[in-house]
Amino acid sequence: MFFEKLSKLLNSAFHRTPQYITVSVAEAQSVSQPAAALPPSRLPRHVAIIMDGNGRWANARGLPRSAGHAAGTEALRDIIRASDDWGIEALSLYAFSTENWARSKEEVSALMSLLLKYFNSEIDELDEKNVHITILGDVDGLPEPQREAVVNAMARTKDNTGLKLNIALNYGGRAELVRAAQRLAEQVKSGQIDPEDIDDMLFEQQLYTRESPDVDLLIRTSGEQRLSNFLPWQTTYAEFIFDPINWPEFNRARYMKCLREYADRDRRFGGVKTDASGEVSP
Ligand code: IPE
Ligand code: IPE
Ligand code: MG
Repeated sequence: MFFEKLSKLLNSAFHRTPQYITVSVAEAQSVSQPAAALPPSRLPRHVAIIMDGNGRWANARGLPRSAGHAAGTEALRDIIRASDDWGIEALSLYAFSTENWARSKEEVSALMSLLLKYFNSEIDELDEKNVHITILGDVDGLPEPQREAVVNAMARTKDNTGLKLNIALNYGGRAELVRAAQRLAEQVKSGQIDPEDIDDMLFEQQLYTRESPDVDLLIRTSGEQRLSNFLPWQTTYAEFIFDPINWPEFNRARYMKCLREYADRDRRFGGVKTDASGEVSP
């Protein structure tokens, strides 16, 4: 127990300080990019990913869709580790939407089995790495074994101070907003707050993501260019990158490519760009 605590402490003290990060030459070549360092100030604090294209990846190989989902969990492992290695503060992953229940019974059950397998096999390492797991979505709507696994994972990692890993399961963005509105209405009804007290900050406190900053970068794989009900509030000012590759083929080199592209973007938040001297640039 003592060593576990010590290792977590060391992890957060040294490892979590964002480092200048570089890609190896081999990784860089695989995405035809020169290896280059990224300063921590140009890194996104919160990355959200819509992991799409598992079915198409499997179809293209004559495999069942479930094989695509299984292959997708390998990419997932790689991207979580990379986020932790590179000092990203929060990573939100879209794993199962409220709309995904519409898929065949076989596919939903394959996804649920993978989910359980994933949590059982990864939880020790994630906890050891000081990762703080939050489930975004309605956990009570999950089958009992899955519900139990994710509730335990959240409880076990609740005091961890490293990467904030948000996994969206049975998640719908509109449902999240409606839930927030209901909770605030309850508070008004019980006299805890007045309607005029409700502002962005109070609203955000009712969201599943209340512990994470706004999303800076949203990545969607498979070439689709839509949100599909993912984090509508949190992505209001996010930069979007659509990678045409299917999720099972996404890897840390492509992730780095996205981070580089993000670092080159000019975020203005409705204002005007100023240079170091305070002059307004064209
Ligand atoms: C994303 O891949 C995984 C989930 C939605 C769970 P898809 O299963 O949507 O793959 P495509 O879009 O059909 O290729
Ligand atoms: C979004 O992908 C949900 C997840 C990645 C979990 P979908 O494949 O379900 O979205 P649509 O149907 O293409 O919009
Ligand atoms: Mg899809």
